[in-house]
Amino acid sequence: MSLEVRPVGDHEEFGRAVNAIGQYFSPPPGPEMLERFAQFLPYERMHAAFDEGEIVGGAGALPFDMSVPGGSLPCGGVTVVGVYPTHRRRGVLRAMMDEQLRDVHGRGEPLAALWASEETIYGRFGYGRASWAGDLTVTREHGGFAQPLERRGRVRFVEPDEALDLFPPIWEELARQRPGVFARTEAWWRLRRLRRPDEEAGSPRRFVALELDGKTRGYAIYRTFFGFEGGSSSSRLVVQEALGTTPQATAEIWRYLLDVDWMASVEVSLAPPDHPLFLLLASPRRVRYRMGDGLWMRVVDVGAALSGRAYADGPPLVLEVRDAVCDWNDGRWKLEDGDCARTDAEPDLALDASALGAAYLGAVPFAQLRDALLLEELRDGAVARADRLFAWRPLPWCPEIF
Ligand SMILES: CC(C)(COP(=O)(O)OP(=O)(O)OC[C@H]1O[C@@H](n2cnc3c(N)ncnc32)[C@H](O)[C@@H]1OP(=O)(O)O)[C@@H](O)C(=O)NCCC(=O)NCCS
Repeated sequence: MSLEVRPVGDHEEFGRAVNAIGQYFSPPPGPEMLERFAQFLPYERMHAAFDEGEIVGGAGALPFDMSVPGGSLPCGGVTVVGVYPTHRRRGVLRAMMDEQLRDVHGRGEPLAALWASEETIYGRFGYGRASWAGDLTVTREHGGFAQPLERRGRVRFVEPDEALDLFPPIWEELARQRPGVFARTEAWWRLRRLRRPDEEAGSPRRFVALELDGKTRGYAIYRTFFGFEGGSSSSRLVVQEALGTTPQATAEIWRYLLDVDWMASVEVSLAPPDHPLFLLLASPRRVRYRMGDGLWMRVVDVGAALSGRAYADGPPLVLEVRDAVCDWNDGRWKLEDGDCARTDAEPDLALDASALGAAYLGAVPFAQLRDALLLEELRDGAVARADRLFAWRPLPWCPEIF
């Protein structure tokens, strides 16, 4: 096999590269979907693997900013990664990951992020599990709040055109409040979040805005799935996104969703473990919650990434980073007063790039990494010191798989 990896040059190559992952979807992406996709994934960010001129794999990186503790940084949002089944396990993915990370680095994006189809794939490329996300289901009989909510807002249905004005500022507020939120372009809103796809015609997306104190302070996007079993409703309300800019707004938008009549259950995916619902509800024990890995983070440039987030005050910390894939990161780095630079000083901790990626957003403590044998504490108390610096609340939350 003679393998070459380079960005695609035109729409025809783009289609064949995206269709590597298309081999695993049904239906595979058609022409319309590819046209839409090309609106947020530029050709130069879609790498293809060629074997003697034939495209055998593809890997994209969406160019967006991502919120990090105390700010935001350019990030490659890794997506549509696939290898044609005819060429599996011959190093095609590895060749694409190498080239993509070099490209992300060359563009000055200090971070890469992804959602993993399988948890076993990306650790070897320096990605770490940096946030937790879960599917949450509340049944009608257990949807009551612990404290009575004095409702002050007004919820109303809106059409996509109006939602395009009203919803983005609320998403942007989430990005100011939490790490792990990627910036959405207008095309993203129109073509991904606010579109009503034909295949959802039976249960179309519904859009509601919450007005509170004269401003739009929350929204929800949801679908309902009708059902009746044994004479009683078994309908489900599936929330795609429900956000409020303030605690009152979040409580109100959830009260609305939990009160829609006929719904036997309300479900939402990707909820973080510190979602307000766990304390708003009177019976959190009755909530079904299945938590797993959420966003995976890759520190592509240690100096820029670590200098680009905020920390608690504390003494300097020296990290010995092992990075076989992005070898420019390999070595010792000193974090002092929020700046991270190369150093010759003796290290406090030694860890792989994937463990650093896991710790980066503040959700995974260094102590937990140590207990999982994922880092070495080289100086007494260094783990506790690192945790005081890096810990961040609220936890990261990325409410959409990209
Ligand atoms: C996952 C996928 C991209 C792997 O491609 P590939 O070209 O077969 O992978 P490579 O041959 O380059 O393997 C690189 C390494 O990853 C490992 N690996 C590859 N796929 C893996 C998987 N699904 N689970 C665990 N390990 C995997 C290989 O064993 C190899 O390990 P090593 O370097 O330690 O020896 C391919 O199987 C695929 O397209 N799967 C379906 C779509 C998908 O899941 N895409 C990812 C979307 S997030």
